[in-house]
Amino acid sequence: MLPTQISSFEHYQSEYARSVENPEGFWAGEAETFTWHKKWDNTLTWNFEGPEVKWFEGGKLNITENCLDRHLAERGDQTAILFEPNEAGDPARHFTYRQLHSHVCKVANALRELGINKGDRVCFYMPMVPELAFSVLACARIGAIHSVVFAGFSAQALADRVNDADCKMIICSDFNKRGSKNIAVKEVVDEAMAIGCPSVETVMVHRNTGEDIGWDESYDVWYHEKVDGQPEQCEAEVMDAEDVLFILYTSGSTGKPKGVVHTCGGYMVYAAYSFLNVFQYKPGDVYWCTADIGWITGHSYILYGPLLCGATTMMFEGVPTYPDAGRFWEICAKHKVNQFYTAPTAIRALMAKGDHFVEGHDLSSLKVIGSVGEPINLEAWEWYKEHVGKGEVPIVDTWWQTETGGIMITGVGGHSPQKATFAGYPLPGIQPCLVDKNTLKVETENPAAGLLAVKFPWPGILRTTWGDHVRCKNTYFSTVPGMYFTGDGARRDENGMYRIVGRVDDVINVSGHRMGTAEVENAIDEHPQVVESAVVGYPHDIKGQGIYAYIILGPEAGANDALRAEIVATVRQEIGPIAKPDKIQFVSELPKTRSGKIMRRVLRKIAAGEGDSLGDVSTLLNPEAVRTIIEGRV
Ligand code: PRX
Repeated sequence: MLPTQISSFEHYQSEYARSVENPEGFWAGEAETFTWHKKWDNTLTWNFEGPEVKWFEGGKLNITENCLDRHLAERGDQTAILFEPNEAGDPARHFTYRQLHSHVCKVANALRELGINKGDRVCFYMPMVPELAFSVLACARIGAIHSVVFAGFSAQALADRVNDADCKMIICSDFNKRGSKNIAVKEVVDEAMAIGCPSVETVMVHRNTGEDIGWDESYDVWYHEKVDGQPEQCEAEVMDAEDVLFILYTSGSTGKPKGVVHTCGGYMVYAAYSFLNVFQYKPGDVYWCTADIGWITGHSYILYGPLLCGATTMMFEGVPTYPDAGRFWEICAKHKVNQFYTAPTAIRALMAKGDHFVEGHDLSSLKVIGSVGEPINLEAWEWYKEHVGKGEVPIVDTWWQTETGGIMITGVGGHSPQKATFAGYPLPGIQPCLVDKNTLKVETENPAAGLLAVKFPWPGILRTTWGDHVRCKNTYFSTVPGMYFTGDGARRDENGMYRIVGRVDDVINVSGHRMGTAEVENAIDEHPQVVESAVVGYPHDIKGQGIYAYIILGPEAGANDALRAEIVATVRQEIGPIAKPDKIQFVSELPKTRSGKIMRRVLRKIAAGEGDSLGDVSTLLNPEAVRTIIEGRV
């Protein structure tokens, strides 16, 4: 059985009302559509002070039996994963539910043989290849906790994540084919091991391109040597609904990235429910989400959500502009994609390449097109609607976060009213609030604006941050007492539709990827010539936000382009290319308050070219510094 599928806007409204009147009854009903070894004892226990949230406590299940085994009788021969390789000329590969089941079981058996047990952490550092999907699901099969690290992060960032979770194993590929590049993935893992990952006993290497790699006999093993001969059946570990399913690291406004923790039962119910409804997936459809499995979107809407619903989900190895900027549309036409889900940054980048790349392709199969990761600007929304959706296909602008596990505010396929740049209404079970940022009073009227918070738990909410529950409490459950605070600001129109304005904390959204300003500053400060730095976001045509760094140098340093390049290289080394500053301005002072805090608001204004409207700067300790910074803007 599948979760309830909403069939009209009226149906949405009645389901929403039901979900608010009796959330536990509502979600218990949805949870019953899944396969459980034992039914739960308590549907929900919670308080947001702890926080402590438990859904379906005492329930026993394995998520992979819900993704795979339960589909075998009905759709064993249907394609589960449709793999489109990097090279446009190479054939796509189809893995049926039966084949996927057998691949997952084989890897699961190999993992057990290599000493991975329930609760052990396994880190992934892999390109978008089918073996990544097999192995992630294999972890879930045996109750190991997966922590997927996007394969664009640096060795240092990888080592930090491996060590934070004490991972016992890293699974990687030899190389990563991305467009015309061939990236040495294993080499980065070797560097991370050299930095020091004491908990890692095994590095399992998937042979992707077959080129030469470094090898350390003490921990390296080949994926194919361990997996190929394994039996095609593997008994699934029986998990408690509240056992950890995965950790996924994400940036916040302070400190190092934190490991967001999701659990088996609630995440399963929410990923499936939201997938089925937002995309209005129907049996036989081909669904494509262009995200990378290194991010939450790939977890929930390439793997778990679609597979839980018995969908055909596409996995794309390459990039949108290779061999040219028509690749997405060529793939949509070739595989007759019905639901297409991408990010505004990709839309803007493709839009800038010219309409002719999209015009030649038959996109008539599309039924729903989605957007995720950052606010979609009006121009991109309209281009997407007109050129991809041909004016007809509904856009779902889906707002959510790593911490929410699944989509929260969105249209429901073509059933909801659409308004450009507005995400729309909350899904059933989601109770958002706008809260005044000064008084913390909940805004009850429409229209309204304020901090976006959620007042009641839903099954996909994060349970903790790995190894540091106090941090979870401070980050998400302290700003707005009694509520989950999102870090975003939003507006609500006269009809109650939500528009997400963007982050209100020190998080920058670069091409839909979250970067903490503190994290980037720490990386910049690693350069020996840097004394102090302050990083802010500024409007960027393609990326949404770019990274602008103000840097104070030591007395010996020459403020020149060579040094700029060195600093960029330091950031690449500490975090990865996605965090590198787009602009660097060398300054002699940073604007500070009397208590010594950097006034970022002023720096944001200057970076945006709005130095003539700084607002109240009366609390500045050094107002004269501001004039010089404005004059030196790059
Ligand atoms: O600021 C919001 C923005 O992305 C943040 C979450 O980032 P992350 O955890 O990496 O997850 C991204 C994919 C779910 C949010 O706090 N964001 C995400 N979707 C939207 C959005 N902003 C506006 N509109 C959206 N549809």
